Amino acid sequence: MPHIALVAPHFLENTNRYVKAFAELDGVKLSVISEDAEKKLPKELRAHVAGHYQVKSVGEASELAKALKGLARGVGPVDRLTGALEQLQLPMAEARELTGVPGMRPNIARRFRDKDVMKEVLRAKGVPVAASALVSSPNELRTFVDRVGLPIIVKPQAGVGSRGTHRIETKDDLETVLKMGPPTEKQPLQAEQFIRAREFTCETVSVHGKTVWRSGTRYFPTPLEVLETPWVQYCVVLPREVEAPWTDFAKVNEAALQALFGDDPRVTGTAITHMEWFLRDDAKMFVSEVGARPPGVHIMPMMSITHEVDMISKWAELIAFDRFTPPTRKWAAGAACFRGQGNGKKVVQVVGVEKAKALVGKALVEFRPPKVGQARAPGYEGEGWALVKSATTEGVKQALLALIENVQVRYG
Ligand SMILES: Nc1ncnc2c1ncn2[C@@H]1O[C@H](COP(=O)(O)OP(=O)(O)O)[C@@H](O)[C@H]1O
Ligand SMILES: [Mg+2]
Repeated sequence: MPHIALVAPHFLENTNRYVKAFAELDGVKLSVISEDAEKKLPKELRAHVAGHYQVKSVGEASELAKALKGLARGVGPVDRLTGALEQLQLPMAEARELTGVPGMRPNIARRFRDKDVMKEVLRAKGVPVAASALVSSPNELRTFVDRVGLPIIVKPQAGVGSRGTHRIETKDDLETVLKMGPPTEKQPLQAEQFIRAREFTCETVSVHGKTVWRSGTRYFPTPLEVLETPWVQYCVVLPREVEAPWTDFAKVNEAALQALFGDDPRVTGTAITHMEWFLRDDAKMFVSEVGARPPGVHIMPMMSITHEVDMISKWAELIAFDRFTPPTRKWAAGAACFRGQGNGKKVVQVVGVEKAKALVGKALVEFRPPKVGQARAPGYEGEGWALVKSATTEGVKQALLALIENVQVRYG
């Protein structure tokens, strides 16, 4: 019986879904590593957990390694160390290396985590990516601009949730960004040629490095535009059909994953990966970035809805047994994310909820409108969301439109 160690930093609603998926999986022994105390784990889950180890920081490889050793002593040797969050991927790989637990090692994890390394590996294998450089001084950034021209994008080397991402359109913008936080040896910046394009995702299930299933979504608008435009309420669409441009992108996705998994995919290549990619008006496709983990922004629930499965359970089964039965797509789905207008740190007004509900009708799967009094979200994700489904992609788009046109949130 495989012994799975799942890293679940805090026992929040979404994290608990992952704990539950492993807890309910037949034929595995589950241990949980968390910053929260064991007693915070919901009772019904606790009964299914063979071992628990509390750490100060799940981001520290040495702490995770200590936990793995502790669990090995108390419960038995650990066969898999896993966790869904992007920030966990590298420390988990380091902890596996320290303790000999099978799975992705740091050299491969870094390719998924470090945007500069990722782009180098992809470029070397001829996978189309934006021109990029890791710059450690203002002069290096200016030299990069001289080489590729404006506009460019600058972002942290290991980013998440678009934090710290800026578009530089003019020389003035460049000087402003340099004043705000110039790149240094210690804190270099990832600089990239700006690709003006539509933005999509590709979710791929790989078993021992072999692709067994793909899905994909489109962002409306792009995360960068969402970041730049605080009043925009944004949507993600997973279409009804497995169709272009996602099917066209499959060969690029394949080449990119082979390049990243490297020469030993038997060990490293069992994963759900989440790839963001661009489609330019001239039909050229570029890989933007890849995570070796389940996707965020409601894409896991959307994949569940459209394929009538529980994707989190399927991911758990994949990780525990290197096993995945490809589901068939039956629906289109979408997510709408609600964000407020105005200044202030709290939601002071929410209107249009009942009207949106009436308009969307049966297409509404889950609705979490923002609540008055709720704190303003720190990132761009907004304070509430809705998930919809329909027999057609058009139906999903209409439902999303009804939601974001009617649900209005105000900060104050
Ligand atoms: N080279 C680029 N050209 C155009 N847009 C980009 C580029 N790099 C990033 N972006 C935009 O910025 C967003 C955040 O960048 P990304 O590399 O995905 O960082 P994160 O890891 O924070 O998600 C992307 O989703 C995309 O909209
Ligand atoms: Mg991204």
